[in-house]
This record gives sequence, C-alpha cells and structure tokens, in this order.
Amino acid sequence: MTKDHISVNRGVWNADARNWVAPGERLWASAPQWGIWGLPEADLGLFPADLAGCDAIELGCGTGYVSGWMAQRGARVTALDLSSEQLATARRLAGQHGAEITFLEGDAEATGLPDQSFDFAISEYGAAIWCRPGVWLREAWRLLRPGGRLVFLGNHPLSIICTPLNGAPCEPVLHRPYRGLWVADWTDVEIDPSGVTFNLTITDWFALFQEIGFTVTGYQELYAPEDMTGLQDFVPAEWAKNYPNEQVWWLAKPA
Ligand SMILES: C[S@@+](CC[C@H](N)C(=O)[O-])C[C@H]1O[C@@H](n2cnc3c(N)ncnc32)[C@H](O)[C@@H]1O
Repeated sequence: MTKDHISVNRGVWNADARNWVAPGERLWASAPQWGIWGLPEADLGLFPADLAGCDAIELGCGTGYVSGWMAQRGARVTALDLSSEQLATARRLAGQHGAEITFLEGDAEATGLPDQSFDFAISEYGAAIWCRPGVWLREAWRLLRPGGRLVFLGNHPLSIICTPLNGAPCEPVLHRPYRGLWVADWTDVEIDPSGVTFNLTITDWFALFQEIGFTVTGYQELYAPEDMTGLQDFVPAEWAKNYPNEQVWWLAKPA
C-alpha cells in the first residue's frame, strides 16, 4: 500500500460532499435505518437499548444523521470525520434539528481523544470501510471503557470480490481473490472512481477481533429486501437478493 489513503480519502470526500447533502437531509428526518437498502433499526438493532446517558462516538460521521439518532436517544455524542465539507453539512443539519453533538475534524485511525472516554462507538460506512481495520479497531478499543460496545456496518467481502476491476456494478462473478483480501483502490477505476477502502476475509476479521480482545456478540450479513429493484451505489438489487452486500459486526470490550 503506497498511497496515503488518509489524504486521498479526505480529498475524495471533500470533493464529493455536495452529493451527500440531499441523502443527509432525508436521513436526518427519518427513523433510524441502515445501509444502502435502508433496513430498519427495529429489525437490526445496531443501537444498544440503553443509549440514554451514554458517551457515544461515531467514527466517520459523514452528514451526521447516525449521531443525530443517538442524540435523540439521549446519548452525549461526539461525531468525528475527516472531511471538513461533510462536517459543514453535519453541523448545519444538527443545528436545524436541535441536536447537541460535538463535531470533530479528525482521523478515526488516530483520534487524539482520551483513553476510555466512551461507552459506545459506531461506524456505518465510515471508519468501517475507509480505515485500516487493525488501526481503527485498536483506536476504538482504546477509546472504549471496559464493558463498552462497538458496532459497525460496511461492505461484505463478497461485494468487493464480485465488483469488476473497472468499478462496474458487482455481478455473480469473482473478480479478485478472497484469500488475503485487504485494500481496494477505486481511485483510478473507469467507472465512478472514489477512494481507497479496506476489507478482510471473515476469518481475518475474527482473528483481528480476538487479537485486540473484542468479544463478538453478533454478526449479520445483509441482503436487499425482496421488493427492491435497480442499482444502489455499485450494487444491483437483484445481485444482493442472492449475495450479502453488507455486514454488521457487534463487538464488546470485556468489563
Ligand atoms: C459514506 S460516509 C459515512 C457516513 C454515513 N453513515 C453514510 O453512510 O453516508 C463516509 C465518511 O467517512 C469519512 N472518512 C473517511 N476516512 C475517514 C477517516 N480516516 N477518519 C474519519 N472519517 C473518515 C468520510 O469523510 C465520509 O464523510
């Protein structure tokens, strides 16, 4: 990995932020829902039942709607993002919705925040995919108090290996090796270029959690609902009815 993924991704997100304003506005005004198919929180349960009074952090908050939902549930929320442009939208929407959130511009791989200052950490397509797993997960571990929980949602490894190398939508064909899955560089692809993302094989995710000390309390592979049609991001709904395009991990730092 020779590219500086942090500065590449910062540039990509600052340039792309204007395209995330409308989805951000919609999601700030919606009930909690997850991933590209908008699966309801009532079905998935990413949030702990008892968020009220917790110190919560979102790692890679984008337009900040997940943080808004946590603030609504009574958490004291810190929302961190690499992109000043995404944060500008997030701050504006938090103001409009009367949400008290501490926004920070920073890198989820090295937040600079104090040890053991949070009870709950979450990332939906933030650090979860844009940061090196072994680095941001150790940082999340450091930030959590004993007994703290971390939940993250991102691309399922299958969606990465089934995406053609030119960036075209994923298809039921294997385009890169699963073994050794690590970085996916979308900067120079022909179709819809973006930044640098990371993923691991399921075995490697488990090994990493164990190495750091996290207990896995839940894991779910997410599919497109039967009534979905068309293309969402780089994922055709028809593909994602047969193959999981997203995954959610629920982790705990033992007390
Ligand atoms: C897709 S958004 C995630 C937010 C929201 N849940 C969503 O799905 O729209 C990805 C965000 O991750 C942020 N990001 C990328 N790398 C990051 C890093 N190293 N530290 C913090 N945020 C990062 C980007 O700036 C971007 O705002």
